Formats: sequence, structure tokens, C-alpha cells
Amino acid sequence: MSKLEYNSNQELELDGVRLLSLVKEEQEGTYVYSRKGLMDRLFLFQSAIAKVLTQRFTVHYAMKANSHLEVLKLFKSQNCGVDIVSGGELKRALEAGFTGSQIIFSGVAKSKEEIRQCFKAQIRQFNVESPSELKRIAALAAQNPTGKKIPVVLRFNPDVDAKTHPYIATGFRENKFGMEEALIKDCLQILNVSPELSLIGVSFHIGSQLHDFAAFKEAVQKTKKLYQNLKSQGYPLTTLDVGGGLGIDYSKSAAVDLEFLEGYCQILKEEFANFEGQLQFEPGRYLVARSGVLLTQIQYIKKTSERNFILCNSGMNHLIRPALYEAEHRIMPLQNKSTGEDLVADVVGPVCESSDFLGKNRHLVGVNEGDWLCIADSGAYGAAMASQYNLFGFPREVVI
Ligand code: LLP
Repeated sequence: MSKLEYNSNQELELDGVRLLSLVKEEQEGTYVYSRKGLMDRLFLFQSAIAKVLTQRFTVHYAMKANSHLEVLKLFKSQNCGVDIVSGGELKRALEAGFTGSQIIFSGVAKSKEEIRQCFKAQIRQFNVESPSELKRIAALAAQNPTGKKIPVVLRFNPDVDAKTHPYIATGFRENKFGMEEALIKDCLQILNVSPELSLIGVSFHIGSQLHDFAAFKEAVQKTKKLYQNLKSQGYPLTTLDVGGGLGIDYSKSAAVDLEFLEGYCQILKEEFANFEGQLQFEPGRYLVARSGVLLTQIQYIKKTSERNFILCNSGMNHLIRPALYEAEHRIMPLQNKSTGEDLVADVVGPVCESSDFLGKNRHLVGVNEGDWLCIADSGAYGAAMASQYNLFGFPREVVI
């Protein structure tokens, strides 16, 4: 598990590497990812699940969280598959060496070209989000030169309250994701006249940054019921995909995440004890968040009568999570110094928006203009969501 801690010289280290050694004067914001941390975390997840399940299961990393080629190659080397949402992700996954049989395609508005590319790659399955999408896949499959049956999974919307930030909740009836039972019925009618498709399973994903497992449990129960119901109608299902979503506690260090994993596994153990199908998992954040940090350099310290500001060379353009979800990442100086400012300040970026902040009301000690700060736990949805807004450059990415 990744360790982010100060050494005896009060310099911050990620898995034993001095972060100060990775930056120099006037460098842009820099993401650092730890190979060791990533490997440990994947192993932790895979082995915790193996302990509680008796049936076969596969893990498909949701690469939207962090699609750095090195990260993908590492996971590929550990027998992990991948969950993609676009043609761009398909291309990157193939480049990293994933085979079609390891790839699940979960996009909510799949284009014709993306569907054709996935046929060509002979992916493991399409997780279908609407009857119209299923019709499109069927029509394209009828023209598919390989003539192979296309495996599809229907994404169910179990209508549960995942108790997470509204922007990352997906399992309510009013969300655009998945299908309520009426739409699943429409899909069955399409499937009944589409011999080029084979229905192999059902899936759900109720949201991200889940800590409340009651909703997860309810979603599992409702989806199992749907699975059995479809089987009893004669559909030869083999697969139940429980999505991703396992959360972490951004306010604390990595050790506390074990509790969440235990809570999650307890539900798997209870709910799947007598289930005969195979299971699929699509974790993103839990595998990568802790093994990445964003390093940013303080340009100026500005004190106004209202507030103090620490103005950095990375902001919402490099890490949008605080602005978009009010996420609170820990912010730590790369070096604990006895000299410098002791102040409560908003840590903000260079972008021309008042929503451009990395942290609000943070107490920082011993900070000076020119110093570097570490924004912890930024390995998931950090660089992956970076933009060039204001035409600032993308952040650097370094793998240690
Ligand atoms: N499977 C599906 C179908 C998904 O939509 C997602 C995430 C995942 C798996 C992986 O979820 P995870 O295990 O990472 O929670 N940008 C937001 C998170 C958006 C998640 C979108 N879907 C954030 O920074 O919090």
C-alpha cells in the first residue's frame, strides 16, 4: 500500500522516493505515480475478493480513472482486465497489451465507429445502456464481416441511493445510466429478433466514492433477482457485473481504506454464497487514487483583508476534483520547514475562475513562495480529467 510520509529530514516521500528530487525550479505541475503502490493495491483488491468468493471472477480496471500507459501495462501484467468508455480508451488499452477478451465497453452513448472498433478487437462484452443502443449494435453486428455473435450485457438501474456526491451517483432512477425494468423488457424484444447478439449477463454501477454499503447490498439483491428472472425465461446468462465505486477517505491516509474493502467484501460473501454465475468488478479509484500525488509550486502568497491565498501553478486545470465535487484532498508541503509562513489560506491555481481552488481554509506551516506542495491521493481522476483551459499546459506525469 502506498506510503506518503516525511523522512527524518522532514522531506515528504512517496514509497521511499523523495518528492523534492522529482521537481525543479519553474517546472509545471507534476503527477507522480508509484509502481509499487499500484501493484500492492491491485493485489490487495484481488486477494480480498478471492477470499470471500467461491465462483470465478474477473477484475476490469476502470481506466477512466487513470489511463497512463505505464499504469495500464502494470495492471495488464497482473492478470487484470479493463473497463473502457470510449474509442480512445480502446486504442490505449490495446496499446498497453490488453486482449479483446479482457475488455468491457461501458460507454453511455457509444458511437457507430466505437462499436465497429470494438467488433474488430473482439471485446469481451458490450454493457448496453439503452434499447436504442442495443438496436444500433444489432444493426452493425448484422454487417460485421467476422460473423461472430456479439456478447452483450444489460446495464440495470436498480434505483438505489448510493449516498455519494450527486455528480457521481449513477444508480437513481433519474440518472442517465442503466435501464429500469421496462427498458430491459424492450431490450429483450430486440434480442429476440437479433440472432447476431447473445445476452450473457446483467450489470450495474450505482456510483463512485461509495462508503454506504447498504445501497450496494440492495443493488446486488435487485440485480440478482433480475438475473434469475432472465435465466428462468431461458436466456443463457453467465455473468453478473457489479461495477466499481468502492471509495476511499480523502481526509486520512491509506490505512483506513481497508475497512471499506472489508465492508464491501462482507456483502459479496453474504450475497453471492449460493450464486452460480461468474462475477465481474470494475474498480477505478480504489486501485489508483492512493498511488498518485500532484506536485505544484507556490508562485505567490497573497494576503487580503478577507483571506489569504497561496497561488500555485496547478489548479482546476490539473486537478478538477475540488472544484467539481468539493473534494478535500490533503495538502502537504514537500518539506516541513521551521521558517516561513504559518497561515490559514485558500490554496488556488492560476485559472481565471473563482472555482479554481485545490483546497480551502487550509492551515499550512513553514511555507514560502517558491516552495512545492503535494496534493495527496490524486492518482484517480487527476491527470485523467486535466484540461488545457486558459491554454495552460497539461501536467507532467512521472512514474517511480
Ligand atoms: N464502472 C462504471 C460503469 C463507471 O461509470 C465507473 C465510474 C466505474 C466503473 C469506476 O468507478 P470507481 O471505482 O472509480 O468509483 N470523476 C469522479 C468519478 C467519476 C466516476 C465515473 N464512473 C471523481 O473524481 O470522483
